[in-house]
Amino acid sequence: MHVLIIGGGVIGLATAWRTALRGARVAVVDPAPGGGAAQVAAGMLAAVTELHYGEESLLALNLASARRYPAFTAELEDASGLGTGYRACGTLAVALDADDRAHLRELHALHRRCGLESAWLTGRECRRLEPMLAPGVRGGLRVDGDHQTDPRRLTAALLAACERAGVRFVRQRAERLSLSGDRAAGVVLADGTALEADQVVLAAGSESGRLAGVPREVLPPVRPVKGQVLRLRIPGPYAPFLSRTVRALVRGGHVYLVPRADGELVLGATSEEQGWDTTVTAGGVYELLRDAHELVPGITELPLVETRAGLRPGSPDNAPLLGPTALPGLHLATGHHRNGVLLAPVTGDALAQVLTTGELPEEARPFTPRRFDRTLQESPV
Ligand code: GLY
Repeated sequence: MHVLIIGGGVIGLATAWRTALRGARVAVVDPAPGGGAAQVAAGMLAAVTELHYGEESLLALNLASARRYPAFTAELEDASGLGTGYRACGTLAVALDADDRAHLRELHALHRRCGLESAWLTGRECRRLEPMLAPGVRGGLRVDGDHQTDPRRLTAALLAACERAGVRFVRQRAERLSLSGDRAAGVVLADGTALEADQVVLAAGSESGRLAGVPREVLPPVRPVKGQVLRLRIPGPYAPFLSRTVRALVRGGHVYLVPRADGELVLGATSEEQGWDTTVTAGGVYELLRDAHELVPGITELPLVETRAGLRPGSPDNAPLLGPTALPGLHLATGHHRNGVLLAPVTGDALAQVLTTGELPEEARPFTPRRFDRTLQESPV
């Protein structure tokens, strides 16, 4: 069986690797595999701290993937010979004012209703845990189960593991999906070459909704959601700056600081509906630094080494689209929005299973693309 995956980002690569391990012949079409939103992402595995009302079924998928991370990481590092930067460091979500604190209290109550572990701390207890926090921190939630990985190292390891598992990389742009009768039959590349496949997986992140040749009724309703992210460096040999991910809701915007073991400190992220724009703006950088400085004043001493913007693949319900579409032979693995890195293990396994057995695992069934069939038929051209 020959599987063709359009998109070599973290989702496409995880799908390719897991599917190749099940014995399928797999090719990934991407001009620059290993790129995409994961090159910008901070890599928080934040199933609990990023929980939102009404997203309980997504929570179950997020938790399933978070639980899989230690074994997935160990297997991937073994298969690739590369580290991935997975760090079981936990997360502290803090509040700077009364509104933030009320929001965190609500989140804490939601955690309890969902049976999730999080502990309420006073401001003093937060600062005892993370002494770099501002004196004004009013309280926080300690979530020991929300960890991190390094998405750049993760994608490099996935690339190597794919190569070792025999995945073929076609370093070109997929121009259009080709059909044979009523089935997806492969892709046509930018240079006109036609590649055939028994099954095609569209895993092109925010670009997934605009591949030519995909019939309108199965075109995924994904859109780009811009995130600007900064990278700072704690000069080495560094004293501990933060020991875990620290995050807050400041004036309604999420800000987070993710400290890597190697001294990198990732500061994110804006969330902007700006179409395909990936400009880093003075305003975006200003707001991130302003909010993070209120949280951890010492960051302004650190070298700012990188500013970058990426595009999250947003979907109408913020959840991914996984598995077969109404077009035989065409599967989706896209729409992961804020959770692409977190959901890579469970997505790779779910797609590998459905591609090789025809059965989508139980945990992935609520995320079938078919849930949008009505919306798609009704949407204007
Ligand atoms: N999950 C973090 C973000 O998308 O910014």
